[in-house]
Amino acid sequence: MSKPIKRIGILTGGGDCPGINAVIRAVVKTAIRDHKWECVGILDGFQGLIENRMRPLEWTSASNILTRGGTILGTSNKANPAKYAVGMDAEGKPIFKDVREQAYANYEDNGLDALVVIGGDGTMSCAAGMIELGARCVGVPKTIDNDLMHTHVTFGFQTAVEIATEALDRVHTTAASHHRILLVELMGRNAGWLTLHAGLASGSDVILIPEIPYTLDRICAACEDRKKHGKYFTIIAISEGAHPIDGKQTISRVVTDSHEAIRLGGVATLLSVELEEATGIESRAVVLGHVQRGGTPCAADRVLATRFGHEATELLAKGKYNELVVIQEGQLRSVPISSVANQQRLVDPKGDLVNIARSVGTSMGD
Ligand code: F6P
Repeated sequence: MSKPIKRIGILTGGGDCPGINAVIRAVVKTAIRDHKWECVGILDGFQGLIENRMRPLEWTSASNILTRGGTILGTSNKANPAKYAVGMDAEGKPIFKDVREQAYANYEDNGLDALVVIGGDGTMSCAAGMIELGARCVGVPKTIDNDLMHTHVTFGFQTAVEIATEALDRVHTTAASHHRILLVELMGRNAGWLTLHAGLASGSDVILIPEIPYTLDRICAACEDRKKHGKYFTIIAISEGAHPIDGKQTISRVVTDSHEAIRLGGVATLLSVELEEATGIESRAVVLGHVQRGGTPCAADRVLATRFGHEATELLAKGKYNELVVIQEGQLRSVPISSVANQQRLVDPKGDLVNIARSVGTSMGD
């Protein structure tokens, strides 16, 4: 018989997104009201577990946070206990060390019986590393990228789609007035979900995603084709991870002390120059950036986050440890955390949504 749960730790890892506080609220309130457990917030993701920085989370700490963006606990998309940067070598390269024993000692010393880990694939791989040492975890799928394996949707995604769609809607009128090509670069890393959904929702003329490499010629052809139909402007929704068929992704920075060092960005600006030269149509690029991750969650994400947080707590209460809460066919289910660690769910280039986009006349740049 395993030790009963009396006290749980909650941490949020990776890039923030709208809805994290709604998950924290659901976990804390369900844990206190239904199970009489104590809750502890671990600050700045796994960084706080390594450095032993925590604070109590009472009922009142979980009040008034449902609609608040960001995370009241802070986060880090660098600190992985299994590969933690402890300094720099003589060449300025980070020295990584496995500090999981230290993190595990803090888990034990604080009397934690389990961890609720809110994050994406990187955070789940950190959790998998702690599970190997004996920590009991439950995961909640968070990311605007919507790229976590085995779940149809992650919380934060729908809010980001709303924000990106509004941006695309807004550039529509200015592009039309000036007869320009307008590119809007959206986040998502190697997955095109955000761009595909926002592109469809806004009726973008061209949608460029990492899963479907583009050619300049095909995009120019789409712009020219529009001219024949009396449309002298073109809206392009482009993922930060999109790339030409014969080229690589555009890297905006390398965060050397992060276990996932590459940050993408800048492709829209490069492509707008190429398009202007090739078509003679004046072009502009907008990089939406972290606006997509900020602010209040939409209603759908508030509901999803609350369902996820409640379900995570119930999994712990049932002794179903080391599982990630997921949504499949509209139903809450769970899968082993180890099955999603360090993997990405990408758009199927031959899938329904891409085919529908093509059917309604959208160019996918190929
Ligand atoms: O994973 C979420 C995300 O916003 C990605 O879409 C983006 O590529 C990355 O994080 C940006 O990371 P940072 O906040 O470190 O710039």
